[in-house]
Amino acid sequence: MIAPYFYRDNELSVEEVTLADIAEKEDTPCYVYSSAAILSQYRAYDQAFGTAPHQVCFAVKANSNLSILRMLAKAGAGFDIVSGGELFRVLRAGGDPAKVVFSGVGKSREEVEYAITNGIHSFNCESEAELALINSIASRHSVFASVALRVNPNVDAKTHPYISTGLHDHKFGINIDVVKEVYDRAAALQHLRLTGVSCHIGSQLLDTNPLFEALDGVLTLVEKLRAAGHPITELDMGGGLGVAYSDQQTTPSVQTYIKLICEKTANLGLKLMVEPGRSIAAAAGVLVSRVMYRKTTANKEFVIVDAAMNDLIRPSLYQAHHEILPLRQRSLGTITADVVGPVCESGDYFARDRQMANVFPGDYVALMTAGAYGFVQASNYNSRPRACEVLVEGKQWRVIRQRETLEDLVQGE
Ligand code: LLP
Repeated sequence: MIAPYFYRDNELSVEEVTLADIAEKEDTPCYVYSSAAILSQYRAYDQAFGTAPHQVCFAVKANSNLSILRMLAKAGAGFDIVSGGELFRVLRAGGDPAKVVFSGVGKSREEVEYAITNGIHSFNCESEAELALINSIASRHSVFASVALRVNPNVDAKTHPYISTGLHDHKFGINIDVVKEVYDRAAALQHLRLTGVSCHIGSQLLDTNPLFEALDGVLTLVEKLRAAGHPITELDMGGGLGVAYSDQQTTPSVQTYIKLICEKTANLGLKLMVEPGRSIAAAAGVLVSRVMYRKTTANKEFVIVDAAMNDLIRPSLYQAHHEILPLRQRSLGTITADVVGPVCESGDYFARDRQMANVFPGDYVALMTAGAYGFVQASNYNSRPRACEVLVEGKQWRVIRQRETLEDLVQGE
């Protein structure tokens, strides 16, 4: 069983609520999140730093629902954003702009201006052209923009190639071997404060060794930069810590990971930042769906459900594994089946040849560990309205995003 979800009287439950209760009232497909699970993961990060100066910046891209951002902001979280849209959400949710870091390789002039005029904490910069742009906009507004250069350490994160970012072949960051010269040249840009170094080598890392290999490289760089007179005071190690999508996977603990970063940076007087997304939100969420049909062909057994790749694209896009559990446990044995959605392509699947509970039309199932990179990657493909989202808090739950209507589908056309 994948925490924080558990069976109580054979009903798949979270906190003090049964998922079937939500599915019956709100219909399916429906995303459900546990507020307690999100907050406890955020606090695990925050507390693991102990007394070291730090800021945990939730990666908004993982789950950008306003209610979730609001809850994290109230708990003290900062935010890692990658677009003006994400900044808009953070501000709308009451997030503190002074705790926002702006990452990404392609920030537009409008986005930089929006971030500067709202007083964000800093930019994680990925090129010299971007440094020049931020400098010119900061100068126009007579302010100083804090900047960390994102270093590409040429470390293999050993994760899915689409979410691996730390090799020199990737579009991300500035080559660690030449980045000192970039700091040297950027010192001439008078409206920048080059006080940080940042690094993010990839996502869903189940082994922390590459993260520490990257950290070692970055710490050597910090020494070199300080020796050359650059006043580096902040280190942002990005996100990346993986989660267990099945019982076979084990995850590095947040505590162990953060404590090691603290140990390795002790006495350097650095403010430490991290940008976790998945490890805060993934396990807290599920996508609830209803079985529509069973179909048997010569070679295969299919379970056709009412959620599809437009709701959760991770299996189609990254061949990702999500456990599939029935909301009501019954003693009907198991089947080996492909679990697929209604979208008209064969890439629309949630599982292939999966051994799973024997489920029938009308039964509900939960696609587990879908709280991160789930709804945020949903689309209207096949003109399917996007699912609703529900947040559970103890005995209570509420809809935090309405299911889209057919009218929503044609808005703006
Ligand atoms: N910081 C930066 C600069 C990032 O690019 C990312 C993720 C994070 C932080 C958060 O990483 P996390 O802690 O969540 O691993 N859609 C993919 C994941 C894409 C991750 C992109 N960057 C998926 O569904 O697996």
